[in-house]
Amino acid sequence: MLAVAVLAAGKGTRMRSDLPKVLQPLAGATLVERVLASCDQLKPERRLLVVGHQAERVEQSLSHLGGLEFVLQQPQNGTGHAVQQLLEPLAGFEGDLLVLNGDVPLLRPETLERLLSQHRSTGAAVTLLTARLDDPSGYGRVFANAQGDVSGIVEHRDCSDEQRRNNLTNAGIYCFNWAKLATVLPQLTTDNDQGELYLTDTVAMLNPAMHLEVADADEINGINDRLQLSQCEAVLQERLRRHWMAEGVSFIDPASCTLSEGSRFGRDVVIEPQCHFRGATSVGDGCRIGPGCLLENASLGNNVQALYAVIREASVAEGCSIGPFAQIRPGAELDEGCHIGNFVEVKNSHLAAGVKVNHLSYIGDADLGAKVNVGAGTITANYDGVKKHRTVVGAGSKTGANSVLVAPITLGENVTVGAGSTLTKDVPSGALALARAKQLVKEHWAGPGAEAGAGAGPDLS
Ligand code: UD1
Ligand code: CA
Repeated sequence: MLAVAVLAAGKGTRMRSDLPKVLQPLAGATLVERVLASCDQLKPERRLLVVGHQAERVEQSLSHLGGLEFVLQQPQNGTGHAVQQLLEPLAGFEGDLLVLNGDVPLLRPETLERLLSQHRSTGAAVTLLTARLDDPSGYGRVFANAQGDVSGIVEHRDCSDEQRRNNLTNAGIYCFNWAKLATVLPQLTTDNDQGELYLTDTVAMLNPAMHLEVADADEINGINDRLQLSQCEAVLQERLRRHWMAEGVSFIDPASCTLSEGSRFGRDVVIEPQCHFRGATSVGDGCRIGPGCLLENASLGNNVQALYAVIREASVAEGCSIGPFAQIRPGAELDEGCHIGNFVEVKNSHLAAGVKVNHLSYIGDADLGAKVNVGAGTITANYDGVKKHRTVVGAGSKTGANSVLVAPITLGENVTVGAGSTLTKDVPSGALALARAKQLVKEHWAGPGAEAGAGAGPDLS
């Protein structure tokens, strides 16, 4: 039997944030979500979360995950005190308890599997994860012999100068034999620099205590402040980019791009500099994205091109080209081969195959039929100050430059709208619609003797 407990009750004072530390985001997921995900593969029978500081907020943030038992720690008197809160919910539990610090988000699931299997094969009372860090300041130091037997852990602030030279570092990840841990937990004291109950002190009370040293020290990075948060983000981004490069994605300037864990890419995708992929974004085969794009929960078919564009909560089908300088907003659905050009915004609209909106337009709450050609500066006036209304334009229609379609309005198929028209009424298929003042020309406006540009001239009245 395996129970997992994530310690997530601390405030995270060093973050200087209103947000509880474990809710800080990293590549689109919170620290605690990441820690929980890292042990999914172990399929634990129980999953407990020790919460305290802003407990409700932490609980609420995890409401989408089932099967979590929340255990309240009030006040937060240290990691040992946090695990003492499990004595009641785990009374009678027989098996191993994997304890994870809620602020160690880069652990690989394979590493936890190795930790658990080593722990079970040696029959140790506790097996903890360690790494040798170049700079272990702030972390607890692990004292172990060459056989891997651990005699104890001393926190950085409680270490002598001599002890600080030991760079074998405690990750804050432990596999305990629960029955044995339960007998020593009540013996913890606050005899340390912080006056707290330290979980690390149980290690010297348990026998045998062993450790597993990981080669990739990044895995045990703990996050206490914003600098460490940014360092972990960098590690995670590097991992994600390497993963996608191995899957057939080219990055022209990898370090300038960020990816979310939930983003997916096809083969032969080329990502130019300064592109950012957030949420559950998917990019089809052969797309060329960037420079300068932001995609969030966007779904792109194959061979889409996007240049200096923002695409959010929208779908863009095969062969479309977007930008430069275009915004595709939530609810936009573009069928194959649409062209969206510069300074164009599309929102909550369906564009059928082959629609062109090439320059300076706003298309909101509209349905454009196949091959509609939207002239430069065409605007759908969708809002009457109270409600939004729809604009429908049939297949093959063309709007002239600087036309305004005042919704609700329906234009049939193959309609032509004259440039500069403001349309407020429906137009039947095949018609030409013109709604603009007739041109007035006054000859000899500039009369003899008039100064150029002075506005003098014949009387118009
Ligand atoms: C802890 C370890 C240290 C280790 C480091 C690894 C102890 C005493 N020290 O130090 O040896 O090298 O992690 O990152 O355990 N928490 C609670 N309740 C509390 C206090 C903390 O739930 O009362 C939670 C925090 O939310 C956090 C985790 O426990 O997720 C670790 O606490 P933190 O204060 O960050 O411990 P460190 O000082 O980093
Ligand atoms: Ca920490």
